[in-house]
Amino acid sequence: MIRTALIGGTGYGAMELLRLSLAHPELEIATLTSRSETGLVGDALPHLRGFTEARFTAADPVALADDHDVLVFATPHGVAAAQAHEVLRANEKVRVLDLSGDHRLRDAALYPEHYGMQHPQPSRLAEAVYGLPECGGREAVPGARLVANPGCHATAALLATAPLVEAGLVRGRIALTSTTGSTGSGRKPGVGTHHPERATNFKAYKPLAHQHLPEITQCLAALGDAPQIDFVPQSAPIARGIAVTAFVPVPEGSESRAADVIRARYEGERFVRCVPGTPELRAVVGSNMADVGVAQGHGLLCVFVTLDNLLKGMAGTAVQNINLLFGLPETTGLETPGLGP
Ligand SMILES: NC(=O)c1ccc[n+]([C@@H]2O[C@H](COP(=O)([O-])OP(=O)(O)OC[C@H]3O[C@@H](n4cnc5c(N)ncnc54)[C@H](OP(=O)(O)O)[C@@H]3O)[C@@H](O)[C@H]2O)c1
Repeated sequence: MIRTALIGGTGYGAMELLRLSLAHPELEIATLTSRSETGLVGDALPHLRGFTEARFTAADPVALADDHDVLVFATPHGVAAAQAHEVLRANEKVRVLDLSGDHRLRDAALYPEHYGMQHPQPSRLAEAVYGLPECGGREAVPGARLVANPGCHATAALLATAPLVEAGLVRGRIALTSTTGSTGSGRKPGVGTHHPERATNFKAYKPLAHQHLPEITQCLAALGDAPQIDFVPQSAPIARGIAVTAFVPVPEGSESRAADVIRARYEGERFVRCVPGTPELRAVVGSNMADVGVAQGHGLLCVFVTLDNLLKGMAGTAVQNINLLFGLPETTGLETPGLGP
């Protein structure tokens, strides 16, 4: 069994990882830390009542390094940046999987602008592997000690655009919108994320300045000539899901070829489905699937991606990465379809 500790055990990411572990033959969530809860997990997370006897603990992550195979930081940004370094120093075999943005960017100078902090351990950024299996992570993750799980918007944006950048088919700037549900903001309510504020509302936020933009650009730059990305996230009155629309300029006359590139790129990818027409959230929510659709214009390919932000956008990809780290088939524990209507 893969002995796993979840740091930030009461949050949405940890909650989903724990739920996925119940159907995973090798993934044992041995420890869940919390600063606010001390009792049974099933008391704090009622949908898990009766499925686990696990209890929360206030253990220090560094003290968990010796008797766990992997520590997963499911914490707000700033926590893993400060603590992962000490965990990795404490035991040379332990692996760290960081669900936050703390190890996604290679350039430490980007952290003050995008995450409002000086990175406390910039030397760790060079060794961290960006864990999007469908975009290079499959090859890089197995040998890594420190894996940066991708952001939810970034996952959808990269699945939409990476094949066309790889194929050298992008001509000019890519405009990209990404609509997200309220779970994207985590479990702790805030004024902008509180149900009465969101339930009947729809708006753009952090236009052209969202913190996932640099990781999208960084990943695309590793695949080809990175285009300028104009990225506008939007918040919708739904709980789960991300829906991206990417407007990708391609050479006139090569629109069909560009569409074929997308379809060919995802043939054989278990968790990416190319669908006719435009993909829907209800087909992916509750699963680790990302659905991709395309529409052709003149010198333009629109690429649409839907996924569940808590699964393919976080905990599902985290399980793919854990499977890769420990030599299991990447799909282990993830063969569950979406909820449907
Ligand atoms: N939500 C998404 O769709 C999504 C998708 C991809 C990535 N992410 C990223 O993944 C990370 C986790 O997201 P989430 O949605 O699970 O967040 P969340 O629901 O807000 O949970 C974070 C947990 O971390 C704990 N925590 C908070 N501050 C801490 C601190 N200073 N030290 C130790 N523990 C602390 C909290 O537990 P206690 O208060 O009980 O200690 C909390 O339950 C975030 O960095 C987020 O940006 C989120």
